[in-house]
Amino acid sequence: MKKSKMSIASRFAALLLVIIALNGYAYYLILQNIYLQELKAQAQTVVGNVEAFGTWVAQGGRVWVKGKSSDSFLSQESFAQLNDSQEQVHFFSKNPALAQREFSEVVAKSTSPAKFRMTSQNVMNPVNAPDAFEITALSKVGFFSGGEYADFVGGDYRYAKAVYHKESCIACHGDASKAPADVINRYGSQHGFGFKTGDLAGIISVTIPARKLYESIWSFVGIKEIVLILTSMVLALWFVRSELIAPIKRLTQAAHDISTGKDMPIDTEGMDVNTKNELHQLTLAISRMKNSTNLAIKKMREAKTAAVDILAKAKVAVAKARDDSQDK
Ligand code: HEC
Repeated sequence: MKKSKMSIASRFAALLLVIIALNGYAYYLILQNIYLQELKAQAQTVVGNVEAFGTWVAQGGRVWVKGKSSDSFLSQESFAQLNDSQEQVHFFSKNPALAQREFSEVVAKSTSPAKFRMTSQNVMNPVNAPDAFEITALSKVGFFSGGEYADFVGGDYRYAKAVYHKESCIACHGDASKAPADVINRYGSQHGFGFKTGDLAGIISVTIPARKLYESIWSFVGIKEIVLILTSMVLALWFVRSELIAPIKRLTQAAHDISTGKDMPIDTEGMDVNTKNELHQLTLAISRMKNSTNLAIKKMREAKTAAVDILAKAKVAVAKARDDSQDK
């Protein structure tokens, strides 16, 4: 296999970019989860408020509102004034769901980004008829945990929380023939009836405009965050450079010196024999190797000198022997 010619530093920098990209994506997913939980928490807060408001209205059964006229009420009472004036005083009663609808209409016109409404698969007031998301939600809240259902629809986060019928609700939403006359008078006897205690009454449906995270990424990532990311990159690169690459370069030079027989000292100052630093271990090992090589070379040289010596002596001896034999 062909080995890459790139330096460790460049390959590490490339790896670092991949790591940062993967981490960035992971952070993005985490951010998205947090954002989703945050949207859900907002929606749950809205539902909580709507339910609390309904409970407040329900404390007196209904709330009574004084006014000249109204087109949104359950029943009406008119009284003569005590101060002999001819004008009558009118009171209009509002049950919880009706008051909640009026509340939702006021909120819809307000600056609050979160809007809500109450709807049902069987609405008493046609104004409360469910839209496409709410029809899906009504069919799904029953099966989903906690009676909740949420989805993104056209840039909005939409959340639905199931509302169940209690004993007290059945007076108006049960058998139409037993429903209060004012309910029948104003809403007829066709729709919004036939429920039993424990039935799914409907949903509180919340709509919150959702931001696309990748479009608003610069509102999360500022100068501080970028500086932190760059600093961590620089730290990692600095570590690789000073702790790995620089020592490896020094060792390469030392090995090269040894191979060419140059006797340059290897710097092992401050390195402990029992060090856990792998490059210090390698440096010490190479230093030992160099010492033994030097020793071997020295011995070889001595042996060579000795051999040359012996050879010379032998030559002299041979020559002498030859002379001697010629003399005879
Ligand atoms: C006093 C009679 C009465 C009682 C009691 C009552 N409701 Fe209603 N409910 C109504 C009326 C009237 C409406 C229509 C309000 C409107 O005009 O928006 C309605 C509407 C609703 C709606 C909105 C969808 C639709 O049908 O228009 C839901 C959901 C609902 N009621 C649930 C409940 C639950 C749950 C309870 C018990 C906690 C309850 N209601 C008790 C009279 C009643």
